[in-house]
Amino acid sequence: MRSPIILALDTDEVQIARQWIAATKGSINIYKVGLEFFLKNGLAGLNALCAESDFELFLDLKLHDIPNTVAGAVLSIRDVEPRFLTVHAAGGRAMVKAAVEVAPEIAITGVTVLTSLDGSSLAAMGISQGALEYAICLAKSAVEAGARALVCSPLEVSAIRAEVGPEIELITPGVRPLGSERNDQNRVMTPQEAIAAGANYLVIGRPITSFFKESPLAMGKRAEEILESLA
Ligand code: C5P
Repeated sequence: MRSPIILALDTDEVQIARQWIAATKGSINIYKVGLEFFLKNGLAGLNALCAESDFELFLDLKLHDIPNTVAGAVLSIRDVEPRFLTVHAAGGRAMVKAAVEVAPEIAITGVTVLTSLDGSSLAAMGISQGALEYAICLAKSAVEAGARALVCSPLEVSAIRAEVGPEIELITPGVRPLGSERNDQNRVMTPQEAIAAGANYLVIGRPITSFFKESPLAMGKRAEEILESLA
């Protein structure tokens, strides 16, 4: 089974992450570990998680620094063999290229515009383009530097797909199945809409993980329902 769902393991507890993986592994292959988990548990915690569960890793560290420092950071986590590793496309072409060059086996993944930023926050940072235009610029720049995947808002997927072609994997958070709480996500699409717009993968967190409170079984069932709705 190849699933387009990437489950966001947004927890700082190794034990919880492990249980979430066990509950959903029937319908999910790729799991996203982000800063919350990584900064608390470090490489040792991540290695423990990877050793005990069989899954592909999306390591969402959103690296953003000078090229030499980013290359060093990539080398530091290379041995965990993430399938995807995120860097901020805004770090520039040389930075993305440095990441790609030291670990060509990892799909270096450019984060375009954070979905938390709107036109006025961009303007306050001196960026006169709107979020969509800026996201397209960042996407093109990251791909030219060797990024094999991009993270973008579901609302930007179709325009970015048109610019970068079919080979680049587009990954989108901000996805909400009908009837799910929006939480703090404002600009959302349903999973079906995001895939129809050209996304390869959907990062989903709370619409699935919130069912764990009920039971691991309920969580697994929720993941399965979302996957089935995409068939
Ligand atoms: O719980 P929810 O489905 O909102 O989780 C979405 C995941 O995607 C979280 O891990 C969040 O950090 C991440 N993300 C996002 N928006 C971005 C980039 C990443 O929601 N622009």
